[in-house]
Amino acid sequence: MIPRRENRVGINVILLGPPGAGKGTQASRIAAARGLIHVSTGDILRDGIQAQLPMAMIAKALMDRGALVDDETIIAIVRERLMRADSHRGFVLDGFPRTVAQACALDAIMDERGHGPLIVVNLVVPEPELVRRLAGRRICSKCGTNAVQATASLACGQCGGALVQRADDTEAVVRDRLSVYRRSTKPLVDYYRERPTFRIVNGAQSQDGVANELEILVDDVIVSATASSIETLQY
Ligand code: AP5
Repeated sequence: MIPRRENRVGINVILLGPPGAGKGTQASRIAAARGLIHVSTGDILRDGIQAQLPMAMIAKALMDRGALVDDETIIAIVRERLMRADSHRGFVLDGFPRTVAQACALDAIMDERGHGPLIVVNLVVPEPELVRRLAGRRICSKCGTNAVQATASLACGQCGGALVQRADDTEAVVRDRLSVYRRSTKPLVDYYRERPTFRIVNGAQSQDGVANELEILVDDVIVSATASSIETLQY
């Protein structure tokens, strides 16, 4: 078994992938298993909408039609979160970066804060499966948790809140989100592809299968990072 090295090297994971690829699902699992913070820009925006924050209410109109929120706002949110002391052990970023401008900003943040390399994972899932997953997704109207799909329950297993469809999971908006992904986010694969810490994972297997692959590849990158210069591995 490969020894865990979390205490020596910060584990900083980015999950790239289209809407419905399983970024949120897997980010929660890695973060919980390794004691990392899970930073979901989508969840932060939805929490802000729930709390009726002015910034989030502007974002809501964009989110509801599947468009991206402006880079400046999103970068400021992530920067503030990654500069807090509780992120130094590592983080899992889910839904960020989504544009090349956001990826450049993240590199600058990593230069400033240090604490280990970026592990960049691209979750690949065929488009018909993405559409199927998002059409069937139900979330809790109170706590935002994804419902377990196998249950026919109408209530959230965590808090009992009513299960609803996300406003941007209607078929038309999903099509728009996929097209925004192809235009603005997919180019990030080329941005990161040459880095020694870039990996591709088949996201079209069971959730446990994806989680196992991620577990192995994170250990693999951490072992490489401790065997060579962390600074060299960062880019
Ligand atoms: P965000 O909330 O980030 O949405 P997304 O990227 O479109 O991703 P999803 O949450 O839809 O999917 P996911 O990949 O997390 O999949 P999940 O695990 O939930 O962003 C929403 C909006 O906020 C954006 O459109 C934009 O407006 C704005 N925004 C956010 N970040 C931004 C940024 N950086 N810049 C600008 N704007 C930003 O899984 C989906 C479903 O599939 C679930 O039901 C799940 O149970 C199921 N599932 C998961 N894995 C599997 C599996 N292996 N097999 C079968 N089913 C599975």
